[in-house]
Amino acid sequence: MRKKTFFFSVFIFCCFGLIPATASWALSTSPSPFLALPTEQKYDAKIARLGQKLFQDVRLSKDNQLSCNSCHINQLNGIDSRPKSIGPDNQIGHFNTPSLYNATLLSKLFWEGKESNIHQAIHTHIQDSTIMAGKWPDILAALSHDITLSTEFKNSFTSGITDHNIVTALVHYLNAFNYTPSRFDAYLKGNVTAISPEEKIGLKQFMSLGCHFCHQGKLIGGNLIMPLGVIYPYPDNPNNKKFRVPSLRNVTKTAPYFHDGSISTLEEAIKIMAKYQTGNDLKDNEIHSIVLFLKTLESTLIKVPNHEP
Ligand code: HEC
Ligand code: HEC
Repeated sequence: MRKKTFFFSVFIFCCFGLIPATASWALSTSPSPFLALPTEQKYDAKIARLGQKLFQDVRLSKDNQLSCNSCHINQLNGIDSRPKSIGPDNQIGHFNTPSLYNATLLSKLFWEGKESNIHQAIHTHIQDSTIMAGKWPDILAALSHDITLSTEFKNSFTSGITDHNIVTALVHYLNAFNYTPSRFDAYLKGNVTAISPEEKIGLKQFMSLGCHFCHQGKLIGGNLIMPLGVIYPYPDNPNNKKFRVPSLRNVTKTAPYFHDGSISTLEEAIKIMAKYQTGNDLKDNEIHSIVLFLKTLESTLIKVPNHEP
């Protein structure tokens, strides 16, 4: 174990009660910091299709300006590729748009981790003045005038169009919006050749630096809130503010990075993390090795079926 990583693991252990790891902590030893992605899909296909329609519906926003898909763009892996989102009336938002793939599996939502319930998160998000600035009475009035949509709601929910049912349909859609398992999941389940020897070196590197203290669990992140600037103060975060540790699944496809989208490449993000979060200066070949490991977390999108299964 690197010397700095040792002090860092003691720090993490004392502050957060996590189990310290060593470089020799192989994945086969228990407990592993990582879990394979669940494969079962928990959604009702009819309600998910209704959610899919709502995801594209600008009537959820102020003056019909934006749909969910204006920022979480399906064709762009669920992001908008901008540093920060652009909301109603072209206002620049406070945060980078995260991808929604696997979002229903997150235990902490939003960059500051301020929500833990996805239903509540979306309910608030729609009304957020920097996101959609939607007003529920206006949304319900507009959607209720749509005869086709009203009938579809009645077919799925006895109470018809309500704010609760709109959010429920969106959550069913997002549940269908999870990624299929990656090569790393196959490796976690015991297929030792699912990742290459070079990628295994990257995994070792990731663990010997202690990245897995924070990026762990089934999403390799997404379940802890941690300071940015643990070992050295991070210049852009002088007050050592905490952020939700992001999931690293499909991270190779979701540049730019960090809560403010200030980091444009994955290599730069890794370099900053190693320095400020673990106290290590990485060489280019070490960074490249971690990129290779992160590529094993790539997977493809599950699509909502067009008809009943
Ligand atoms: C104007 C752009 C924009 C629109 C429109 C938008 N979002 Fe978001 N979304 C964001 C941003 C930015 C964040 C991060 C906000 C934060 O961290 O406070 C986010 C975060 C989320 C999250 C939490 C994800 C995570 O990783 O924590 C969910 C879930 C979500 N949005 C769903 C939706 C849904 C559903 C809609 C449509 C009803 C929608 N969003 C519309 C920009 C947008
Ligand atoms: C002490 C906890 C902690 C450790 C250790 C840590 N990270 Fe992070 N990581 C975070 C937090 C918090 C963020 C979010 C930063 C922000 O939003 O500005 C983050 C962000 C990232 C991102 C950007 C993801 C995105 O979607 O924007 C990458 C890539 C990353 N970390 C990789 C690593 C690697 C590689 C290591 C090991 C060298 C590591 N992290 C160690 C907490 C940690």
